This record gives sequence, structure tokens and C-alpha cells, in this order.
Amino acid sequence: MLKDKKVLLGVTSSIAAYKAAELVRLFKKAGASVRVIQTEASLDFISPLTLSALSENPVLTKMVDSDSGEWNNHVELGLWADMMVVAPLTANTMAKMKIGECDNLLLATYLSAKCPVYFAPAMDLDMYKHPSTKANISALQEYGNILIPSGFGELASGLVGEGRMAEPSEIIDSITAELNKDLSLTNKKVLITAGPTHESIDSVRFITNRSSGKMGIALAIEAAKNGALVNLILGPTHLECSHDNVTVYKVITASQMLEQVNTHFTTTDIGIFAAAVADYKPDFIAKNKIKKSDDSLNIFLERTTDILAEMGNKKNDKQFIVGFALETDNELENAKDKLKRKNLDMIVLNSLNNKGAGFQHNTNKITIIDKANNISNFELKDKSEVAKDIIDKIIQISE
Ligand code: CTP
Repeated sequence: MLKDKKVLLGVTSSIAAYKAAELVRLFKKAGASVRVIQTEASLDFISPLTLSALSENPVLTKMVDSDSGEWNNHVELGLWADMMVVAPLTANTMAKMKIGECDNLLLATYLSAKCPVYFAPAMDLDMYKHPSTKANISALQEYGNILIPSGFGELASGLVGEGRMAEPSEIIDSITAELNKDLSLTNKKVLITAGPTHESIDSVRFITNRSSGKMGIALAIEAAKNGALVNLILGPTHLECSHDNVTVYKVITASQMLEQVNTHFTTTDIGIFAAAVADYKPDFIAKNKIKKSDDSLNIFLERTTDILAEMGNKKNDKQFIVGFALETDNELENAKDKLKRKNLDMIVLNSLNNKGAGFQHNTNKITIIDKANNISNFELKDKSEVAKDIIDKIIQISE
């Protein structure tokens, strides 16, 4: 969720400022870029050296850098950020944020930021309970800022109660939950098959195809980016898929793929079957390597189960399933026939007649056909952009 996000962390002068170090570390660990602005008073609580080392960026404090004489452009900072997080936020800075006072770089950046702003108050029990604090928190929320509520616990004064800044891990969880909230596939379970399968002939040889799994992995990442929880059933490939919302189940053969699909299908909302599954497998696997003897060797092949067709048969009214078709001739007619025969909601047609499309390429050119026979043609694109087109279409049709 936080991967590649640009986070602007504002640190104000609370004893909880020491937790900003852990917060920066967690943002970085999640794959975010972090820039830190500290108020001058916060420098007594945490050194900018710590925060710049952890964020791998210089920490900004003043409007004008005293060494270089350079102006720290607050408008540019506000535009750079995907989100601004003020943690810890003192009662003093909170009051200034409410009235639009602008006497330091943090406040100027806050006022010019166009991104969502999260704030995590930190103060003593009675300050937190004070009606003016409550009113200021409500005002900041009314402006559209997002509150990360303070927790209950021991405070610097020795008192016990509300006011303690949320723990860094809780701040990360709140932001992640907020980012997930508005995504179209949040709470949806998506199952994706990808990659080739290997069907053994003997202990060293197997039948396979040229699929790399790239398209299926791109679909898994795209679905996850849209908030889905993805089960990716991945055939043998050197490619990896890493995203917090994607669980990868590695399989080798068509029957192992079927087994994993069967395990997860009942809880699936959307199934995308992008794997190039072997249609046939040797009816017998020789235990040892087959030695050459005669001029020719016959290997008898038997049909594997058509996983997609089987799930098409099983699916209930709420489940949405998508198949792929790789055609060389009579493309549209064959794809439409497959859509109907396998009881699909949508089919993605790859035509091998298109240059730059298919197994061997980073690009693909697709046509999408839905159950109502609507046809959408797409340009030749990078597979990650194709994945976006496919997921957008699924979101549009399955709603
Ligand atoms: N599929 C599957 N299990 C199989 C074979 C195919 O799940 N044993 C799925 C693929 O993942 C893909 C679609 O079915 O979504 C492809 O259908 P298929 O009938 O195999 O079409 P083509 O590969 O295009 O081959 P053919 O035209 O020979 O049927």
C-alpha cells in the first residue's frame, strides 16, 4: 500500500518526537520515500541527523537554509508529497493549523499541501481533554485532515490517560486502512493463475510452453494495488511477485494448479485464469531417465482437467470469472465460443497475429469480450498497462 508513496513527515516539539525515528523506519521499510520537516523547537527532542540518516534525505527546518542561503520551497514540497503526516502534533502547532498561522516551514507546507494530511496529536491528559483542543481537532477534521487518534497510557507527566501519540505501527496501520478504504477492490478476494506448467515425461524431462507468467503477475499486482486480497497460483517461472496483499502458491503441474484453485475458489469473488496450462500430459511418468534405444519414441498424452471450464461450471452467481484465449485464426469467433462454452463473464483475447504480443514479449495487444458481447479493443502496450486495462474493465463490469 505504501510502496512508492511520497511521505512528508512533519515533526513538532513533543516528547513523542523520539517515535518519529521509528515512524520513518517503518515508512521506508514499506517502500515509501520520506522527507522530514521539523519545527525548530522539536530539535531539542530529536536530532535532525537521526531523521535524515533514516529517511536518506536532508531534514528541513527553516524557510531559508542558513548555510546555503537557499529557500526551502514549501509549495514544491507540498506538491511533491502523496501524503503529509504530522506526528507528533503538539497543541501549539494544532492551534496554528486551525487558524492558518504560518510562522514556520512546517505550517507553510501544510497550508500549501494539496495531498491528504494525517495528524497524530501528542499532549498531556488535561491538555488533550481541554475543550479548545477538542474544538481544534474537530476543526482540522472539518478541513479534511485525517485524525490518527491518541492512545491511552502513561504520559510524560506521570499521569495516565488519553493524549499519548499513537504508536508508529498504529500510525502506519491507520494510514494503510485509510488508503484501502476508497479502492474499488477492497475486501474482494481475487484468485489468479499464471505461468506455464511442467508435465514430466521422466525424471529429467518435461513438456512445457513459453509462458513467463509476466501477464498474470502484473494482474496480481494491479488487483492488489486496487485493494484486493490476491491468491496467485503460479506455475514454474523465474519471476517473483512481491506485494503485501498477494499470497503466492507455487505449483509445477496442471494437477497441482487445479488442487490449489479448488482450495481457494469457494472464497473467491473474482477469478482470473491467465496461466498457460498444459492441455495434455504424459499418461505415464518414467521413474528413471528414458534411455534412447529405437529410432522413434512414442509418448502417449492424456488430457488434463480444464481448470477454467471446471470453475465456470462450479461458479455461483456472485463470482466473476475471466479467461484468456490465444488465437491465430477466426479469433473473435473462437474467443466468443470459449466465453460461452466455459461459462465465463469476460474473456481476454490475445492474437498471435499481432506483432509484439504474446508469450515472448513485454508488451501485449488485447481485445476484451464480455458476456453481453461488448467488444473493447486496446492498443499494443506494456504488460503492466495491459493489466491495468483488464482490472479496470473487471471493476467496471463486475460492479
Ligand atoms: N485453461 C485452464 N486449464 C487448462 C487449460 C486452459 O484453466 N487445462 C485456461 C487458461 O488459463 C486460459 C484459457 O483456459 O484462461 C485458455 O483456454 P483454452 O481452451 O486452453 O484455449 P487456448 O489455450 O487458446 O487453446 P485452444 O484454442 O486449443 O482451446
